Amino acid sequence: MDSAWSPSSWRTRPAAQQPDWPDPAELERITKVLGTYPPLVFAGEARDLQARLAKVAAGEAFLLQAGDCAESFDAFSADSIRDKLKVILQMAVVLMYSAGVPVVKVGRIAGQYAKPRSSPTETVDDLTLPSFRGHMVNDIAFSDQARRSDPERLITAYNQAASTLNLLRAFTKGGFADLSRVHAWNQEFVATSAEGRRYEQLAVEIERALRFMKACGVHTEDEPQLHMVDFFTSHEALILEYEEALTRRDSITGDWYDCSAHMLWIGERTRQLDGAHVEFLRGVRNPIGCKVGPSASAEEVIALCDRLDPDYEPGRLTLISRMGHDHVTDALPPLLEAVKASGHPVVWACDPMHGNTFTAPNGRKTRHFDDVLAEIRGFFQAHEAAGTWPGGVHVELTGDDVTECLGGAEEIQHEDLDTRYETMCDPRLNARQSLDLAFRVAELLRRET
Ligand code: PEP
Ligand code: CO
Repeated sequence: MDSAWSPSSWRTRPAAQQPDWPDPAELERITKVLGTYPPLVFAGEARDLQARLAKVAAGEAFLLQAGDCAESFDAFSADSIRDKLKVILQMAVVLMYSAGVPVVKVGRIAGQYAKPRSSPTETVDDLTLPSFRGHMVNDIAFSDQARRSDPERLITAYNQAASTLNLLRAFTKGGFADLSRVHAWNQEFVATSAEGRRYEQLAVEIERALRFMKACGVHTEDEPQLHMVDFFTSHEALILEYEEALTRRDSITGDWYDCSAHMLWIGERTRQLDGAHVEFLRGVRNPIGCKVGPSASAEEVIALCDRLDPDYEPGRLTLISRMGHDHVTDALPPLLEAVKASGHPVVWACDPMHGNTFTAPNGRKTRHFDDVLAEIRGFFQAHEAAGTWPGGVHVELTGDDVTECLGGAEEIQHEDLDTRYETMCDPRLNARQSLDLAFRVAELLRRET
């Protein structure tokens, strides 16, 4: 298997979940153009993220990976990016303050534009069309024209990722993420809720702690960690032409990095050991993730670890468990034991979303907040029993006041789902549910530390 890797060696392997591009010559022309564009992230940043993830693998930090299921080319305002960042910053502060562990912040953002689908086609009445595969590929409208795969979208995805990243860099380094602004991250519709008030209390305590440090003579204004946040980007590396075009050789180390994001992951439907996605990601030096669902055997997971982390590098590989609340207690423990015995120093993260999706009576895809929490609890219990570190959570959320997931403190019911159901793909936690989740995870974490 250890045949030579190159950015294009995936092309000799079967690639699951690929669009049917109508004009391969046009796709090739566009990927050539993309190949001339500047990288979106730098190799040194990806190495920095890996060093932080190594701390997570060692049980010294916690990973918060969060963002949209599918980013939209249309909902792309400064406000929506800012509000998503706000809720992630709030969650990170809750986790850090309540559990006392450093939090590595990674967004599903600035590139999360392509989706695997359970069926390649969708039928409405008598019309069957290709499924929507994310804005990097086609459009969600149900028409022949909209559903055609259009390679020009790869260029739009790049441009949109570049401007999203630009804004994120400005927000996280330019004062917005300053710890003295903890109150300002609490949006009005959140602040009035029970979890919003709980957050306010915590923000007051943080302010007091900062004043105390100042009074002790600590020059808080000179401490960059208090004024800036390190925030990393990630997405599922699904459309490999896009990823290949943005893969560059690092001038310092000579290694290959996929410069479309700091971290890339392989989805549950594309983790075939001899498939194109595993082949592609094994050769880039970014930290990478791989989803692991309930059908994964211990042998399969070890084979993936051997292929994706042949050098046993801490922080290189994050296994993202997405078992479902009803399977996590059975399915996860054998995997934890096997990986522990193998010696691969992986990060274990819990995606409590993708194993808990169901269709509500009104036809909406949804998830119940209680199931999400139950999976996280099962994840923590399994780690406790195995003596391994529950390294992080991977969630789909939005900063908006949507009604896509059931339950939570505001008790969203089936009949509420239609009120503000805005996702293009999977149901996301709204800002209040996300904050609530952070408090619950912090409680579980506190017991670990
Ligand atoms: C996702 O993360 O949006 C996704 C499709 O997940 P999975 O590959 O685990 O189904
Ligand atoms: Co999803």
